[in-house]
Formats: sequence, structure tokens, C-alpha cells
Amino acid sequence: MSGKRPGHHTTGRVPTMSLAISFAAYGEPEQLSLTELTAPQPGPGQVQLKVRAAGVNPLDWKLRAGYLTGFMPLELPHVPGLEAAGTVTAVGPGVTRWSVGDEVFGSVPAAYAEYAVTGEELLAAKPADLSWEQAGALHMAAETSFRTLAELGVAKGDTLLIHGAAGSVGAVAVQFAVAAGARVIGTASPANHDYLRELGAEPVAYGEGVFERVRALAPEGVHAVLDAAGGYLAGSVELTGGTERVIAIVDAQEAAGAGVRFSGTDPATWRTAEGLAKVLELHAAGTFVLPVRTVLPLAEAAEAHRLSAQGHGRGRIVLTV
Ligand SMILES: NC(=O)c1ccc[n+]([C@@H]2O[C@H](COP(=O)([O-])OP(=O)(O)OC[C@H]3O[C@@H](n4cnc5c(N)ncnc54)[C@H](OP(=O)(O)O)[C@@H]3O)[C@@H](O)[C@H]2O)c1
Repeated sequence: MSGKRPGHHTTGRVPTMSLAISFAAYGEPEQLSLTELTAPQPGPGQVQLKVRAAGVNPLDWKLRAGYLTGFMPLELPHVPGLEAAGTVTAVGPGVTRWSVGDEVFGSVPAAYAEYAVTGEELLAAKPADLSWEQAGALHMAAETSFRTLAELGVAKGDTLLIHGAAGSVGAVAVQFAVAAGARVIGTASPANHDYLRELGAEPVAYGEGVFERVRALAPEGVHAVLDAAGGYLAGSVELTGGTERVIAIVDAQEAAGAGVRFSGTDPATWRTAEGLAKVLELHAAGTFVLPVRTVLPLAEAAEAHRLSAQGHGRGRIVLTV
């Protein structure tokens, strides 16, 4: 937070119009179009941001494609986006943490836009040495990692297996778990194995025989599994000897079939502030890594969705506004 008085209202004009990406029907990336919309205004406890960078999450393209209408129906037209970094442009009644001009990042709905609104408690102060692109891409990976590791009860002395460890969630979960004192084995394609070592995990190639390779590396057993790739639940239950310490975040149907907890659908379980605080702690210690994979301008959101849907690579795709 800046040295200004908390809750200080702007003396300038509060933005009322906002260029934004939206879609009016579920479908292909071409459904995404750039239009000028009314800028959202902050209600009680909310702030309005001038978005500088918005992270592109796999959930964004899954929602756009209509894959999740069963449990996450959207009101259309919908502006995608779940996270961003930006500058506070207006504060709503009762806001105490932020003032106009503060540089912040965190959980921001409808973030594919020039201006967006979010709850004041869902943001953290952006350190000057984190770029807009890096900061805008942190929230989802941080919150998901903090929540799932807490649900798994990962602690010092545990051996944790992370499927999809080179992804954004996987990479942050590796670092949080290593910081907690766990031994981490992570699956990724061979091109990402050096990257996983850099993060503190022991890499294993995924695909045919993955569980044999994990067993060879940890003959004394694996205590907990985070499946951030999807498709590994039955083998993970067999590996840990039960369903209690296996968590799914990709495929709810697969989780139900395997009797495994699917994490993330209940907002009451979200750990936004703790996830952001943990990232800031590791960043301040100089140990935190989350690469930005590709930076594209807001108008190229469709291309960002095509790249995200490929499902490979390391780090986040980011839209700059
Ligand atoms: N439920 C929740 O709360 C929640 C929250 C956030 C994300 N998610 C979901 O979690 C998943 C990961 O999200 P993300 O943001 O980390 O995605 P991401 O940054 O796009 O990363 C995807 C990663 O998956 C890896 N991968 C692809 N196929 C794999 C396989 N068969 N085995 C192991 N790894 C494989 C890729 O590694 P290589 O390049 O090495 O192939 C890539 O690094 C997505 O499905 C997302 O929707 C759920």
C-alpha cells in the first residue's frame, strides 16, 4: 500500500468506459471480441483497477468453450479473466486497504478489460521488482497451490507427487511444498525436467510407466498426490494406498469415479490472501520463480486461448492492456 490515506477517493474522473474482451455465445476462440463496455464501478469494499496485465488460465478457455456450463453457468455476454495486476483508479465505500494510485495484483474477475472491479481483500501490493506481467499471472497458481497443499496436509518429511508440475499451478505448488520441507517428485515432459530441478523437484517423465518410475525414485512410498494434469487419479490412489491424500483439480468426473476430493468449486475453501502472501514471502526471499510464457496484447485474446488450450509449456500466458 502507498503512504496515502487509506480509502482516499480520486479527485480526477473515475473511468466510465472500458475496452474489454467478451463473448456472447459459447464456442470457438473466434467468439472473443474486443468492444467498449461500461466500466464496472466499485461497490462497498471494492476497488476499481486500471488493468495492466491479466493472466490467461485454462479455466478461461474451458468456460468460453461451454465445457463447464453444468456447474459454472455464465451470464452472457461474459468478460473472461480471473486475475490481474494494475493500478487502483477508484475505491468504493468502506475500503480501508487501498488508495487511488496503488499498484496491486490478485484475484480479479472479468480481467480481460481496461478496467475491472474486485474485493479489496483479494489483492496484494505489487512489489516494485515484479513486472506487471509476472504479478498479473500469480493469483490462480498461488491460491490453488496454497489451498490444495493445505487440504493434503503437506508438511516437512512428506513425499509429495505432483502431476503436471511444470504447469503454472504445478510449479508454484512445487515451490510451496519445498518451502514447507516436503520432498517433491514432479511429472513433466523431458524438456521441462531441468526447470523442475531448478524449482526443487525431482522430475519424472509422464506417460506409460509413470507410476513405476515414481516408485523407483521413492521405494519407501509417496504420502500425498496433487493431480494438476488430470488422468492420474486411480494410479495415485493405488500409489498412496488410499483416497485421503490425493487431490484432483482438473476433472471432477474422474475424481468422483476414483472417490477422490475435487478441490476448487466451493468459494468458501478459497485461500486467496494466504496464497498471495506466500508468493510474496518466497519472492522477498529471492527464491520464487514463475515464468511468463508469452505476452500478447488484449486484442489477441483468441490467440492466447488457442495457446492455452494446447496444454503444454511452462509459465503463464499474459494479456497486456
Ligand atoms: N480446480 C481448481 O481449483 C483449479 C485451479 C487452477 C487450475 N486448475 C486446472 O489445473 C490444470 C493446470 O492448470 P495450469 O494453470 O497449471 O495450466 P498450464 O500452466 O497450462 O500448465 C499445463 C501443464 O500441464 C503439463 N501436462 C500436459 N499434459 C500432461 C500429462 N499428461 N502429464 C503431466 N503433465 C502434463 C504441461 O507440461 P509439459 O509442457 O511438460 O507437457 C504443462 O506444463 C488445468 O486443467 C486447470 O484448468 C484447476
